[in-house]
Amino acid sequence: MTENLAQPELDLTIGGQIGFNPSGDEDSRTAFRNALGQFCTGVTTVTTVAPDGERVGITVNSFNSLSLEPPLILWSIAKTTPSFSCFQPDDPFVVNVLAADQEDLATQFARSRSETKFKGVTTHAGLQDVPIIDGCVAYLECQVHARHPGGDHDIIVGRVRRVFNLRKAPLLFHAGAFHSLGPA
Ligand SMILES: Cc1cc2nc3c(=O)[nH]c(=O)nc-3n(C[C@H](O)[C@H](O)[C@H](O)COP(=O)(O)O)c2cc1C
Repeated sequence: MTENLAQPELDLTIGGQIGFNPSGDEDSRTAFRNALGQFCTGVTTVTTVAPDGERVGITVNSFNSLSLEPPLILWSIAKTTPSFSCFQPDDPFVVNVLAADQEDLATQFARSRSETKFKGVTTHAGLQDVPIIDGCVAYLECQVHARHPGGDHDIIVGRVRRVFNLRKAPLLFHAGAFHSLGPA
């Protein structure tokens, strides 16, 4: 069957809802974002060190597992974000999986890159001195394995070098709001 993406069946109704084309006007793009937001995720802060030695940290919920053998993970980085030029092939980075009591950190690392980003944040030096944030649920120390274009984002594929699993309750993100899976 050949799918016609340009002209979807607009008259199909499911549960009282008419399907919409996400490439339409501003309202349809907002509705697309809202639909994506129904997919509940965990929350991570991805850290690295910039070429000038500055510590970099960005809140990311596009993280996902990719492969067990070899051990690969992926996440995506917005082209508009100041950290976009980091995470080049072979660069080291850490995926810090945030705990239920780390909502403040998620907010702090979702603000634009600045000297104050790591203010009040205690860290350990991981492989190649990449900061590992204290108090998280799990850590994946990675190296950039590949970087692929993906619309207004790039997809970063990471090869996992070392893992820590502290088995705490994680922070969750759903429909634009933070939640927790029980006390941390
Ligand atoms: C819950 C949440 C998830 C986010 N996920 C991503 C993501 O997957 N990729 C991304 O590029 N930005 C994501 N962001 C936005 C970045 O955290 C934000 O743009 C941050 O300022 C980037 O750091 P920088 O400005 O130092 O580059 C997310 C923000 C929040 C609050």
